Amino acid sequence: MIYLDNAATSWPKPESVYQVMGEFLRTKGGNPGRGSHTLATAAAEAIKETRIFIARLINAPRREQVIFTLNCTDALNMGLKGLLKPGDHVITSCIEHNSVVRPLTKLARRGVKITKIPPSKETGVVSAHDIEEAITKDTKLVVITHASNVTGIIQPIEVYGELVRKRGLIFMVDAAQTAGTYPIDVQAANIDLLACSGHKGLFGPPGTGVLYIGDRVDLDPLREGGTGTHSEMEEQPDTLPERYESGTLNSVGISGLGAGLKYIFAEGLERIRTHEQYLTERLIQGLLNIPGVALYTAKDLTKQASIVSLTIEGYEPGEVGVILDQTFDIKARTGLHCAPAAHRTLGTFPLGTIRLSPGYFNTVEEIDATLQDLDRIARTVAPKVADARKG
Ligand SMILES: Cc1ncc(COP(=O)(O)O)c(C=O)c1O
Repeated sequence: MIYLDNAATSWPKPESVYQVMGEFLRTKGGNPGRGSHTLATAAAEAIKETRIFIARLINAPRREQVIFTLNCTDALNMGLKGLLKPGDHVITSCIEHNSVVRPLTKLARRGVKITKIPPSKETGVVSAHDIEEAITKDTKLVVITHASNVTGIIQPIEVYGELVRKRGLIFMVDAAQTAGTYPIDVQAANIDLLACSGHKGLFGPPGTGVLYIGDRVDLDPLREGGTGTHSEMEEQPDTLPERYESGTLNSVGISGLGAGLKYIFAEGLERIRTHEQYLTERLIQGLLNIPGVALYTAKDLTKQASIVSLTIEGYEPGEVGVILDQTFDIKARTGLHCAPAAHRTLGTFPLGTIRLSPGYFNTVEEIDATLQDLDRIARTVAPKVADARKG
């Protein structure tokens, strides 16, 4: 089996993630922050450790600014709905995931104004100049993805961050596809809100995500409830991270996320990125030699995350996905990838693309085998397509 769907969730996880989670449930399974017995404090320690690791990874000034969430979608909802009020204006792009698009659509019904900026047709990059031009007196937030989950094209967040800060606005980044693979420094890039999946590049299990909240932002919490602290108060405490972490945390998942981060630190971000970049470039180069393949990637492959979207002439993307899975045991994602606007921009709406997303545990042999199989698939219909054209 060849797993090439790491943009959806990374698999497999490092061995230590499985071990730590099993051990956590057996030996540390208390409710963190609820009580002072040893099982509760062991769970709280594991969560604190993961929080420290995330803060280190993104250079957060204080670990309390790292909030654990259910996933990246939850983090984006917390940021967008906690910040934006009727009358506010928000600038975003036309390549966002539905996790940004749908909360904003809901907020628009409550009177939030939205401007969506298309990327350049040539480069796939959203221009900082276009963002600047869209700023109005009501603009409060710029929210943009670090890398499109359809094209994999990296956006220059440092450039946007500088502009947004200069104009006194809030800057939110969706790092679902880059955290754990690309260096992200929230202070250097002037990021006020950073949303990450825990279960993709950070190697945690599903059900984990992170929201970093910078000092310049005051979000209304989306939910209130027990925090294990200030239990005498009827109001939600306003200390971090409790203000945004009501109810029992996914402590076993967070302990696994901690093991994922430890693994990243041990391997080194650079090494992970270099390997993924090598596989991605090899995949793209190979695909260029297959008849009927159209690619939707960056021109400059150094600006390309480990995501390759393609279509094959004569096939619907979904058909290729089924053949890859059932004939060749290759796991790829096909369709719209929860980002219909990105497909409208690319011209691949409504059928979408075939998306191959190599991860750190994929090998060169797996990439070559996938290329061979895609070549066979493409060549099966290539003559029919040519005949149909002649006819
Ligand atoms: C760019 C982007 N944003 C947000 C998300 C949502 O992430 P999650 O599944 O962790 O909620 C994804 C998931 O694929 C994504 O690719």
